Amino acid sequence: MERIKVHPLTMDGRDASLLRGDPMTGDRYYSREFAQREWDHMWTKIWHVAGRIAELEEAGDYLVHDFMHESVIVVRQEDDTFKAFYNSCGHRGQRLVWDSSHAVAGFHCPYHGWLWGRDGVLKNAQDADDFPGGNPCGKLKLEELRCDTWGGFIWYTMDDNAPPLLEYLEPIPELYKNYPMETAVRVFWMKINLDTNWKFATDNFSESYHTRTAHPQVPPFIDQDVDSARHEMFPRGHGRTVQPMRPSLTDRLPEGTPEPFDDLLRYWDIDPNSYPNFETKAIQGWLDLKAAKKRLWKERGYNHYEYMTDEEITDSPHTVIFPNVTLSFLPDQLIFFRTEPHPDDPNKCTFDLWCMVYPVEGMTEVESIMAGKQPLREAELQVRDFDNGAGVPEIVDQIVYQDMLLADGQQRGIRSRGYKDTVLCNQETRVRFFHEVLNDYLEGRV
Ligand code: FES
Ligand SMILES: [Fe+2]
Repeated sequence: MERIKVHPLTMDGRDASLLRGDPMTGDRYYSREFAQREWDHMWTKIWHVAGRIAELEEAGDYLVHDFMHESVIVVRQEDDTFKAFYNSCGHRGQRLVWDSSHAVAGFHCPYHGWLWGRDGVLKNAQDADDFPGGNPCGKLKLEELRCDTWGGFIWYTMDDNAPPLLEYLEPIPELYKNYPMETAVRVFWMKINLDTNWKFATDNFSESYHTRTAHPQVPPFIDQDVDSARHEMFPRGHGRTVQPMRPSLTDRLPEGTPEPFDDLLRYWDIDPNSYPNFETKAIQGWLDLKAAKKRLWKERGYNHYEYMTDEEITDSPHTVIFPNVTLSFLPDQLIFFRTEPHPDDPNKCTFDLWCMVYPVEGMTEVESIMAGKQPLREAELQVRDFDNGAGVPEIVDQIVYQDMLLADGQQRGIRSRGYKDTVLCNQETRVRFFHEVLNDYLEGRV
């Protein structure tokens, strides 16, 4: 087996002594003043995901990313680069567009009819010579933002002084260079309105301590034994938990219950009954699985395995990118989770769920780990209210649904006069780490 390389920037994500121990008081989750500080010092400084490159195939295709009271347009240029502009007309500020669209020549303002080109330059204005400074066409330009791509996603930042995207993401692009992320197909795409602060999701995705309680279906196929996982955190606030995709040794399904790991072994031509006992099946079976996948990937059309390591073809690195994006890297799927704050109410947020899969030759349908069976094709966006679960019947009892069911309750509990601060175990160290990096932004240390 290949030796696992640990990136030099890695800090032990279970070592609380690496942190200052900043308190995590309730006001962080419901105070408007705190939310305003997040906007002033953090949201306007970080890199945001606008969308996926796959959404913009041709020159003139554009997408709109609304964030709190802001709105940004990203448009594909003739030379296949992307440009990002604030969605605000340079004449008198009218919002130019509301929805993504395809192959436009430019942006036609609905107010006085100015036409801005794909490159953001003003092309046409009514009565262009009636301006004291002369004809503004060819001179005025939409306010542009920095924009770049990584992982099949288009990113932008509102901060001219932010580090370049790849530096901001460090060391995530290096860690995941073997995954052909840009080839993944988004088979499920939903935006869900939740009654909780946006930080709920980053907190939740920074620890696996809740999995046994909230997701009892997971331990039989992703090892939840705390010492089996690698907990890593990185200086810029990102972090990950890498867990083997095999049964946890300490969680046993009742005798006679079908085991999902058995099906996986069989799929890769391994007989689950060939092992003398459960422990051997979990550990040796997992090693045999690596060998079988390496032997069979090509003939089975699993082309995305070509550059992936032994760890990557059988494990689950669950990765949080500061501050609000989580990417779950699975051998055959890539899940994007993101929360974004409500423009005015810190007790609300939106939750984006993008389930992506790597196409396998001959496969027309996939079993998404978060959204169930889906046809293998690019999905359309659906927007829903969570409504205590009633608004998202398609994902009832899925892992992410179970997380969302807890969100409202935690928000309410944190608002209680009885909640003072958190008590974290070592495997939850990254929860506080996230808040400390957030504090670094709020206090001008980043
Ligand atoms: S505000 Fe856009 S043309 Fe006047
Ligand atoms: Fe969870």
